[in-house]
This record gives sequence, C-alpha cells and structure tokens, in this order.
Amino acid sequence: MIALDFPSKNEVVNFLAKFPADKHLFVKIGMEIFYQEGPEIVKYMKNLGHAIFLDLKLHDIPHTVKSAIRCLARLGVDMINVHAAGGIEMMTKARLGLIEGTSAGREIPKLIAVTQLTSINEKRMKKEQLVSASLEESVVNYAQNTQKAGLDGVVCSAFEVKKIKASTSSDFICLTPGIRPEGFAIEDQKRVVTPNKAREIGSDYIVIGRPITQAKNPYKAYQKVKEEWNYRS
Ligand code: C5P
Repeated sequence: MIALDFPSKNEVVNFLAKFPADKHLFVKIGMEIFYQEGPEIVKYMKNLGHAIFLDLKLHDIPHTVKSAIRCLARLGVDMINVHAAGGIEMMTKARLGLIEGTSAGREIPKLIAVTQLTSINEKRMKKEQLVSASLEESVVNYAQNTQKAGLDGVVCSAFEVKKIKASTSSDFICLTPGIRPEGFAIEDQKRVVTPNKAREIGSDYIVIGRPITQAKNPYKAYQKVKEEWNYRS
C-alpha cells in the first residue's frame, strides 16, 4: 500500500500521473488529506479504480464510532481502522456500523485496529498511561481484544508480527508500516525492515510512503518494492 501523505488533492493527482493510467494501486488515505479534501478524495480514488485503506484511526464512545464508520463504509473503502484502546465494545460496534454501511452485495471492508502507537515507548506508556505491563504485552493484549471483537487484524511493527500471530491466529491480519527497501533513507522511522524481510516475517500487507512518494521516479520505486516483496530466496 502506498501512503498518500500529501497536503492536498493537487499533489495526489501529480503523483498518480507518474503511474500508468491502468495501474490499479492499493493506497492509504490518512487524516491529513482526508481532513483537507473530505470524502470526495475517497470517491475520486475509487473512480480511478484504486483500492483504499482509510486510515482515520477512529476512537470515541461505541455509539459514535458505530455511526461514523457506517458513513465511511458508504464511501466504498476496502479497509478501515480504529484504535484498540477504545475497547472491545467500541470495536464490536464499529464492526456492526461497517456491516450496516456496506451496500448489499459488496464485500465487507476489512476492519483493523491500531494497538500502541509506535510513538509511544515503554517508558512513556508506563509513566503516562500507568500501565505496568511491558509494551509487548500491551500490544499483544490489544491484538487479542481486537480479535475478540471480531475484527480482522491490527496495524503493527513487523517486529511484532510473530508474537501477534502466535497469540491470535495465523490468518489475523498484520499490516506493517516502517518499511524501507534496500538502500533507502530511514528518515524518522526507528526500526525498519525491507519489503522482503517483512514478507518473510509474516506481514500480510506493507505500508510504504516516502520511498515511493518522494522518489524521482515513483513508478520505478514502486516496482522495486513489489519486486522485493515478491522475491523468494
Ligand atoms: O513515509 P513512510 O514510509 O515512513 O510512511 C509510513 C506511513 O505509515 C505513514 O503514513 C505513517 O503515518 C504510517 N504509520 C507509521 N507507523 C505506525 C503507524 C502508521 O509509519 N505505527
């Protein structure tokens, strides 16, 4: 999945112009572009034939999340997410909202949860959230809550995939950002893996932004990522 972390639609249009017109991508639409352009940006991308992961990380009381996600499902997205910290009831209701908002005959979009944000380290978690468990225990616990609520998987670091699959199930989706192909700058990501390594570890989807969006030739960079993802040693 390509993270479309752009400030407005113009930049998205310019970026997509660098790909063959018939190339259908899986793109991640996040808060920045969604709050700038509104639901129209999703409809625009859908009309071009792209698959959409709407990364808005919903987190509120169960009733509100259910109603909100019902609206978002009507946009025809393919994947959407919430914060596991919202609780099992919130996630269960989110799933119901998603089912209600999906038109008849359409596949229910995948629903995944964010566990602990990667900007939270163990020290901060203990100090600010008064959680005495380790960060890994907390992540695994959130993943198990997510599964109990009937969701499809979680967003996590590739380094957490094995532990999460072992404590949930092998078909529980692990979607991993923090990906850098061989030879690319790490930027502000802390712990990165290559597309090939992520696949080897068991990631089901990888999310990759700047190595493709900021590349001189984005299509070439995208093809390189796909080659690495598909490579079997
Ligand atoms: O440019 P880069 O490949 O680092 O972008 C990664 C994308 O994944 C960004 O949209 C970022 O917000 C998102 N993300 C992340 N780490 C997380 C969750 C989401 O990098 N734990």
